Amino acid sequence: MSGISAVYPGSFDPVTNGHLDIIERGARTFDTLIVAVGRNSGKNPLFTPDERVTLLRECCAPWPNVRVTSFEGMLVSFARAEGAGVLIKGLRAISDFEYEFQMALANKQLAPDIETMFMMTSAEHLYLSSSIVKEIARLGGDVSPLVPFVVEENLKMKLDPSRQEARPVSMGFDIKE
Ligand code: PNS
Repeated sequence: MSGISAVYPGSFDPVTNGHLDIIERGARTFDTLIVAVGRNSGKNPLFTPDERVTLLRECCAPWPNVRVTSFEGMLVSFARAEGAGVLIKGLRAISDFEYEFQMALANKQLAPDIETMFMMTSAEHLYLSSSIVKEIARLGGDVSPLVPFVVEENLKMKLDPSRQEARPVSMGFDIKE
């Protein structure tokens, strides 16, 4: 594929409206945006990597230049293999900065040819995170202003012990591989 490709990596456990804001703006800025779900995150995820990819594909269906996949191992190796020279990171409150700065410097050391670019979150998503969404959902609160409907439905399924085997529901979009 020609043009400038960027990778937007993350855990996306699950994807929130804050992530989708970055994806929408990234899709406008770059020719191709590869949304990459990290498979080897040290966190204890609620959704499996495949479930997170499926949910993201549903939510990214409106953007034809966005591709969703997962990766294992080093982010810069994945970006290089995909022919992407840019890593996109979303920045929210100041608390994100130190961790992201450290990661950006480590990635620069590992791959000087790959640039990390930070996109400031939109004001309404300043304190939105996947962890907060999961906490609210676990406590039975309303997450509808924070995540797409398909994610809300899948959170309910995951957190309801009687529906543990439920798979992510389709919203009827075409899912790109
Ligand atoms: O949404 P998150 O949890 O901040 O995403 C973390 C992710 C997947 C982007 C991060 O864990 C990652 O880059 N993992 C790949 C491992 C890697 O390349 N490490 C070396 C650079 S610090």
